[in-house]
Amino acid sequence: MKKILVTGGLGFIGSHTVVELQNEGFEVVIIDNMLNAEEKVIYGIEAITGKKPVFENLDLREKEAVKSFFKKYNDIAGVIHFAASKAVGESVENPLLYYENNINALVYMLQELQAKTAANFIFSSSCTVYGQAEKMPITENASVQPAISPYGNTKQIGEEIIQDVAKVSNINAILLRYFNPIGAHPSAEIGELPIGVPQNLVPFITQTGIGLRKELSVFGSDYPTPDGTCIRDYIHVVDLAKAHVVALKRLIEKKNETAVEVFNVGTGKGSSVLEVIRSFEKVSGQKLPYKLVGRREGDIVEAYADTQKANTILGWKAESTLDEAVESAWKWEKKIRS
Ligand code: WQD
Repeated sequence: MKKILVTGGLGFIGSHTVVELQNEGFEVVIIDNMLNAEEKVIYGIEAITGKKPVFENLDLREKEAVKSFFKKYNDIAGVIHFAASKAVGESVENPLLYYENNINALVYMLQELQAKTAANFIFSSSCTVYGQAEKMPITENASVQPAISPYGNTKQIGEEIIQDVAKVSNINAILLRYFNPIGAHPSAEIGELPIGVPQNLVPFITQTGIGLRKELSVFGSDYPTPDGTCIRDYIHVVDLAKAHVVALKRLIEKKNETAVEVFNVGTGKGSSVLEVIRSFEKVSGQKLPYKLVGRREGDIVEAYADTQKANTILGWKAESTLDEAVESAWKWEKKIRS
């Protein structure tokens, strides 16, 4: 049974990926420093798969700790690196925290992997690297735009670091550029646990639906889109998790064509903010209080993925609909508030 390290494995996307890895027979070791995660997530994972993953409470910003980890676990067959900070606004206020968390940790990890005869590495990147792309849907060939936040910059720099290191080492990597992950495991044993007031649309909607927030503010209704609100590619987190397993297998089986490959991970379908609200109303059977307000600074008009490369080369395709994803998020919200 192959052993896989999942950093940030107690987080939103990390925990769902741990479940899919275990479902596929991998043995998982999680590293998490609990900066934005709770230890009880392990029990949620165990409730779904019947297997408790190994957990190391470790801070990847501590170089010596990273070294010791790889000494203790010298048989890691692949690494999926989620551990990172991800709040755009916070990154503007505290850029060095973002560079330390997202870059130092990556560098220390790669230093250890570089010393190995072979290493397989999956990196959490983001469609944020495309900025406002000129053409929809967005292909992997779309140009990378200057980042508008330190957070976005850490993803771009992260990608560049991996490209540079792969040229001079035995590291093989797949960069997955996520669109907008939403939802929760259909069992409602694990899901998203936003800290404070959610900045993202779907957790804000479900918290409003449950009565924690008074109403949703829809940021901008005069965009050049059919209903005037922004368009995004919302992908069910379980579909996204499965993309990681497929990508990892591709590296383990040495099917990758170049040392570093890049894939968009989205559904290929764009949905407006109002469409997401309608979806919530449909699956919950209740009205969502919302008001149309001004645009949010830094928002792009639309972003949705061209998924052809992931479909054909990776052999992966998102399966869930927007309704299914929103329904799973709602089920999770109801469970954690009950
Ligand atoms: C979606 C839409 C908002 C909240 C996020 C991350 C970004 C990147 C991609 C990781 C937008 C609107 C939202 C609200 C609203 N992730 N909205 N009212 O902006 O695509 O970016 O995903 O790399 O870093 O921040 O996602 O969920 O914040 O917003 O009207 O209260 O919902 O304006 O159109 P976004 P989001």
